[in-house]
Amino acid sequence: MNNLIIYFSRRGENYLNGSLVNFEVGNAEVLVEHIKEFIDADTFQVETKESYPDSYMETIEIAKKEQENNVYPELKEYLDDISQYDTIYIVSPKWWGTLPMPLQGQLKQLDFTGKTVKTLITHEGSGLGNSMKDIKKLCNGADIKDGLDIKGSDVQKAKDEIKEWIEY
Ligand SMILES: Cc1cc2nc3c(=O)[nH]c(=O)nc-3n(C[C@H](O)[C@H](O)[C@H](O)COP(=O)(O)O)c2cc1C
Repeated sequence: MNNLIIYFSRRGENYLNGSLVNFEVGNAEVLVEHIKEFIDADTFQVETKESYPDSYMETIEIAKKEQENNVYPELKEYLDDISQYDTIYIVSPKWWGTLPMPLQGQLKQLDFTGKTVKTLITHEGSGLGNSMKDIKKLCNGADIKDGLDIKGSDVQKAKDEIKEWIEY
């Protein structure tokens, strides 16, 4: 069983339980580490060529415009072949109700035919939103399992839940 984790995460200023806090490690990054405690997996981090600002407010404005205008920002590096993998884990924050545009841009270039896809979303309180609807469009041909969502403030204690979700 070959596993690949494709993830996006943003360090810097973000909301934690209603206050702005500086994150040295992103929430989705913490979730990736949890997954790797239970399975062997390769990882691919989706990173934009131009970093998002440290400021949360500036970032949400940029992300909103990207989504409204269907802009897929350029990435540092693209993954183009996932043929050697059986299960693809997609780990991401929720941005404006769904996956960030850079991650969407990466996923839409891949051939998911015959793959199993498991989606893990971290957010600040509003669940999976449109993430699964968009994953179905982006990962055409895959067997898409139920997604799991973890609130940002709960990522550190989410290990047991993640273990169950991996095994189901
Ligand atoms: C640009 C942006 C948009 C966001 N949009 C939402 C949203 O629509 N719903 C939500 O619950 N949280 C939203 N959040 C909060 C993040 O999803 C949440 O803080 C997540 O845990 C961050 O993960 P990360 O540290 O890996 O980037 C948003 C955060 C950012 C920066």
